[in-house]
Amino acid sequence: MTLKMGVIGAGRIGKVHAETLVQRVPNVSVAAVADVVPAAAQDLAERLHIPVATADYKAILADKSIDAIAICSATDTHSQIITEAAEAGKHIFCEKPVDLDLKRIDAALAAVEKAGVKLQIGFNRRFDANYARVRQAIATGEIGELHMVHIISRDPAPPPISYIKVSGGIFMDMSIHDFDMARFLTGSEAVEVYTIAGVKVDPAIGEAGDVDTAFVVMKFANGATVTIDNSRKAVYGYDQRVEAFGSGGSIATDNIYPNAAIISTGEHIRRDLPLNFFMERYTQSYASEMQAFVDAIINNKPVPVTGADGRAPVVMGIAAKKSHLEQRPVRLDEITA
Ligand SMILES: NC(=O)c1ccc[n+]([C@@H]2O[C@H](COP(=O)([O-])OP(=O)(O)OC[C@H]3O[C@@H](n4cnc5c(N)ncnc54)[C@H](O)[C@@H]3O)[C@@H](O)[C@H]2O)c1
Repeated sequence: MTLKMGVIGAGRIGKVHAETLVQRVPNVSVAAVADVVPAAAQDLAERLHIPVATADYKAILADKSIDAIAICSATDTHSQIITEAAEAGKHIFCEKPVDLDLKRIDAALAAVEKAGVKLQIGFNRRFDANYARVRQAIATGEIGELHMVHIISRDPAPPPISYIKVSGGIFMDMSIHDFDMARFLTGSEAVEVYTIAGVKVDPAIGEAGDVDTAFVVMKFANGATVTIDNSRKAVYGYDQRVEAFGSGGSIATDNIYPNAAIISTGEHIRRDLPLNFFMERYTQSYASEMQAFVDAIINNKPVPVTGADGRAPVVMGIAAKKSHLEQRPVRLDEITA
């Protein structure tokens, strides 16, 4: 069977997913792409030979021949499109975060449940070989009882202010991947969060009501402590590392480099900068997550990252922001819909 998909949103991640689906995932074809900016949809459709480009995603939902969609549009559109797609009987892959508001998330998840369609959330890092190996070491007891996890997650450069304004801020937009990673690696749930954050990179980010530098400390139900270290700008490129430490040892991952060459001179020993951003660094994980989504639909298997997995890090994000604003530790059970 070949699954027919539509891609909604032809921006940074829409391009990655459309290209991945067309070029790297078997048993799927992309039948249409939608973007409110018509030229964005048309350019992507032309480049990848996708037959239909439209400015209105509802045209994709109305097309009975399309089995599934990938929602890659701006964060503030996700829950509405999930609900409409579920009502149209489409299986749904949706980018993170599901929404910034828990009531809207619950309404969207209820629509999915009612329609009996599959919903997978785009936490691609779970599919990255480095993080999967760290999870394996924790899950199998290879490093003993888990005591601490340190997650370093720094972008090479901030997105445009227009993006930041609809992103929900650093905790919902960027740390959300790390909240998911914390749940994935520990296999447990956060109970308490404490945040220290500020504006170090660009005052315009502060003027837009956001922060660009954040440190989050979390207590997990299984007794582990997790720290998240975020910056919107690391001058040396995308910095994505994890260390887990337990009673029997530790496991650490490095960044991924375009080559393994080491240059030694009379002054320095150095190497080239790491892969610059998510499009290059996480290429394999985007293919693996889409492969898993297609496989779940074709073979009627459970999706690996559920709607509930999409909701939990939003609760953590709300708690982290509250902790920053109120300058105190916040328990997760303080956050109610
Ligand atoms: N998983 C990841 O690694 C990852 C990486 C980047 C972005 N994201 C998420 O993906 C989403 C998009 O991010 P981006 O970086 O691609 O942003 P972007 O601004 O580059 O692209 C978003 C696109 O959506 C389009 N759009 C907005 N409303 C629409 C609508 N109603 N119908 C159709 N198109 C619409 C915009 O015109 C734009 O082209 C965000 O929710 C973001 O959090 C995830």
